[in-house]
This record gives sequence, structure tokens and C-alpha cells, in this order.
Amino acid sequence: MILQDKVALVTGGTSGIGRATAIAYAQQQAKVVVVGRRMDEGEETVRLVQETGKEAIFVQADVTKEADVEAMVDKAVSVFGRLDIAFNNAGTIGENPSLIEQTEAEYDRTMNVNVSFQGYLRPVSLVVRQRG
Ligand SMILES: NC(=O)c1ccc[n+]([C@@H]2O[C@H](COP(=O)([O-])OP(=O)(O)OC[C@H]3O[C@@H](n4cnc5c(N)ncnc54)[C@H](OP(=O)(O)O)[C@@H]3O)[C@@H](O)[C@H]2O)c1
Repeated sequence: MILQDKVALVTGGTSGIGRATAIAYAQQQAKVVVVGRRMDEGEETVRLVQETGKEAIFVQADVTKEADVEAMVDKAVSVFGRLDIAFNNAGTIGENPSLIEQTEAEYDRTMNVNVSFQGYLRPVSLVVRQRG
């Protein structure tokens, strides 16, 4: 199994592609850190991962918030002792799917989840840094 002994963090792990990926990582023997804002859905992903026989935890976090992003990485390392993979999957189509009708504020909020430094690059830099 290619992910034996690896620890994978999945943002947006509370549904959809993130949940499916969390389960797929576990099937490849990774331990999984499930991240999202919805607690019940996150705990459901943890339950589905545990059904594969692998360990998982849920960390409630908003990837647009610096403190949440740092805390999710700290929690993963404190529980599992390492972090090898960051699947930065959290995303949204935004409040207003019409590109031409949305406001600048709506556009900025969408991009802040999908491709911002906090939501996209910061988890990767923290994972790399904690590995030394
Ligand atoms: N499905 C497709 O056909 C498709 C196509 C192209 C790209 N994508 C992209 O692939 C990703 C997953 O798509 P999906 O279809 O699986 O969508 P989804 O089921 O709506 O999942 C989106 C995930 O992002 C999380 N999320 C959103 N805002 C967040 C925030 N501020 N902080 C933390 N988590 C946040 C949600 O969790 P909470 O609500 O619990 O926070 C949810 O788990 C998205 O980035 C999407 O744009 C999807």
C-alpha cells in the first residue's frame, strides 16, 4: 500500500470529493485528518474512514482563517506525530454563481476559500515546515 504510515490532511473532507478522497487515502493505509466547518458531516467522514480500519480525526476549521489553519496542522501533528500530505480541496462556487452579476466582495470571498494563501498555500507550507 503506497500510503502506509503516511498521515494525510484533507480540507473540505466533510462531503463530496474530500470525503471520497479521505476514504481512498485510508484504503491505501494512510491515517486521515478530516477538515471542514460542519462537525456532524466531519464526524461522519471519520466514521466512514474508520470502517476501513484506519485512524482518523476531525478538526473543525475554516480555511480562510489563519488561526484555524495553523491549529489544524498543530492538531494533526500532536495526534499523529507527523503530517505528510495536504489535499487542499476546500472550495466553493460562491454565493452568487453568476460571474457577471456578482459583487467584488462576493468574488473575493469565493477566491479567498478556493485559491487564497491561507486556504491553499499555507497548509502546504506548514506541512513542509513541520517535516523539517
Ligand atoms: N464536483 C465537481 O464537479 C467539481 C469540479 C471542479 C472543481 N471542483 C472543486 O473540488 C472541490 C470539492 O468539490 P465538491 O464537489 O466535493 O464540493 P462540496 O461537496 O461542496 O465540498 C466542498 C468542501 O469544501 C469545504 N469548505 C468550503 N468552504 C470552506 C471553508 N471556508 N473552510 C473549510 N472548508 C470549507 C466544505 O466543508 P464545510 O462546509 O464543512 O466547511 C466541503 O467539505 C471544490 O474546491 C470544488 O470547487 C469540483
